[in-house]
Amino acid sequence: MSVYQATASAPVNIACIKYWGKRDTKLILPTNSSLSVTLDQDHLRSTTTSRADPSFQKDRLWLNGSEDEIKDGGRLATCIKEMKALRKQLEDKDSSLPKISGYFVHISSRNNFPTAAGLASSASGFAALVASLAALYKLPTSQSDLSRIARQGSGSACRSLFGGFVAWQMGELPDGSDSLAVEVAPREHWPDVHALICVVNDEKKGTSSTAGMQRTVDTSPLLQHRIKHVVPERMAAISEAIRARDFDAFARITMQDSNQFHAVALDTEPPIFYMNDVSRAIIALIVEYNRVAVEKTGKLKAAYTYDAGPNAVIYTPKENVKEIVELIIKYFPQAENFKDPFGLFGAAGVQGKVVD
Ligand code: ADP
Ligand code: DP6
Ligand code: CO
Repeated sequence: MSVYQATASAPVNIACIKYWGKRDTKLILPTNSSLSVTLDQDHLRSTTTSRADPSFQKDRLWLNGSEDEIKDGGRLATCIKEMKALRKQLEDKDSSLPKISGYFVHISSRNNFPTAAGLASSASGFAALVASLAALYKLPTSQSDLSRIARQGSGSACRSLFGGFVAWQMGELPDGSDSLAVEVAPREHWPDVHALICVVNDEKKGTSSTAGMQRTVDTSPLLQHRIKHVVPERMAAISEAIRARDFDAFARITMQDSNQFHAVALDTEPPIFYMNDVSRAIIALIVEYNRVAVEKTGKLKAAYTYDAGPNAVIYTPKENVKEIVELIIKYFPQAENFKDPFGLFGAAGVQGKVVD
């Protein structure tokens, strides 16, 4: 008897221009385009195995060993349904293929880093889920096609189908067919940029990204200003900075956008606070580090950015990684346990927490 099973893994991506707000909550169509860097080391990844079998009674999913309910019409169900439909199309065209699109699937996924803590687990999670089903069903789909499906699991997941510097174009069409991820530049275009991950708190956040952003859409006047008058220019400017490998411009825009995203969260009713005192202390450290650098050379040396959680990501050219790690250890003495700080996208821990 044949075993139909496949495993795939996907890394997280950390946005420089943040996605925050949906114009269509079912299809997951965003209120603004966004841009991120996909981390290319193994520190923050989801690994997912999918199996199809005629003996299975329903679709089931385990996340980090505990079963998660697959709600009818929910995001998991949508992604699984879309992938089964693509398999069915193949089977209809080629009668020699085993008809596994009708079988239920069992899916098991693990994250090697904190889940739902603002380190983009939904991004790597849904990207890995879609990638593992694409492998199970042997689909000839492009990464862009898969990004459209992953998007319906979690918006940020569409960007994790690509490596390097990735934009999620918001699109205009009501069916979402033009709302997908595209590569801005491959990783090799700018290997000098590294990311340090500072795990300030690995607990599950109080307000999920999904709930938080909907509340912002419903209540924040600042969000309207952001999506109309700020993000379009920033998307163009940061894409240009990436093309030109201009770290100073890349860093300035990344920090501005992180700040505005957290301002928009604060402008929500009731307000949402994702950063804590340690997050703000890390911002102060990077601001001071940059102040000294600008005085000396006229250029920024590091950029902080925070997703929907308290954990910092610091982008910096490779030559500064060691110095920044030492600074963090000096001011946050609990942070002595670093993993591979000199590899591309090394990870750093704060408060004794390491990411893997
Ligand atoms: P994060 O900041 O970690 O992305 P979110 O609030 O956006 O947090 O999403 C967290 C949710 O994403 C989890 O509660 C779970 O439903 C889903 N998720 C996380 N990891 C995975 C995974 N590996 N496979 C499937 N779903 C996942
Ligand atoms: C702050 O993609 O997690 O990380 O689409 O509701 O699943 P859903 O939200 P999600 O939101 C990510 C928000 C962010 C910014 C970003 O990654 O662009
Ligand atoms: Co998320």
